[in-house]
Amino acid sequence: MGTKGLFITFEGIDGSGKTTQLELLYGDLRKKGITPVRTREPGGTALGEKVRTLLADRCLDILPSTELLLFFSSRVQLVESLIRPAIEEGQVVLCDRFHDATVAYQGYGRGLSRNAIAMLERMFVGRVRPDRTYLLDCSYVTAQKRMMSRAAKERIESMDRTFFDRVRKGYRDIAKSEPGRVVVMDGGRRIDAVHKLIKDDFLRWAGY
Ligand code: TMP
Repeated sequence: MGTKGLFITFEGIDGSGKTTQLELLYGDLRKKGITPVRTREPGGTALGEKVRTLLADRCLDILPSTELLLFFSSRVQLVESLIRPAIEEGQVVLCDRFHDATVAYQGYGRGLSRNAIAMLERMFVGRVRPDRTYLLDCSYVTAQKRMMSRAAKERIESMDRTFFDRVRKGYRDIAKSEPGRVVVMDGGRRIDAVHKLIKDDFLRWAGY
């Protein structure tokens, strides 16, 4: 592998299947003798996991701007302590959500200023941007069906359909504006079919 590693992210609304797809690609790469760094947002560090617990708490009344800054606090800690060093060492990093989620959820979903979000990214995240992103695009109804088997919903997961429709639009707009980075997959398809598409795309794109 070259000197710079690869930073791959998985995105989509809650219940889109992105975490399952990340795990499947992780397994594929392990079989090829590559051990990617696997992480998630919010979380991935001791501090980030505590922030994640706060963000998930349905009993907490968190203002939209506070929510935005909590996501950033987790991200900055993760970028500086894990993602940036791993990329500089030449590793493959698979991350379950990253900054696109903030644009989609806090920007489109909550209606916070996208300029402010972009400014925070420039100030605190800098040049660490995903090289490739798999967006699992699916409807609220499909996602809800998948989520039925899960335990109690977390704070943001329990938002209503109109919220998730805005988030989905946010993700689609990001994909349209960066077609070279964001690969859109139909998250409503069977898990194995989506997996094959992601695996084939990744191996071709990365040249493995
Ligand atoms: P997860 O369940 O996919 O790990 O994500 C946790 C929740 O946090 C999920 O509802 C999406 C939300 N989220 C945001 O609202 N903004 C963000 O920047 C990130 C990373 C996640």
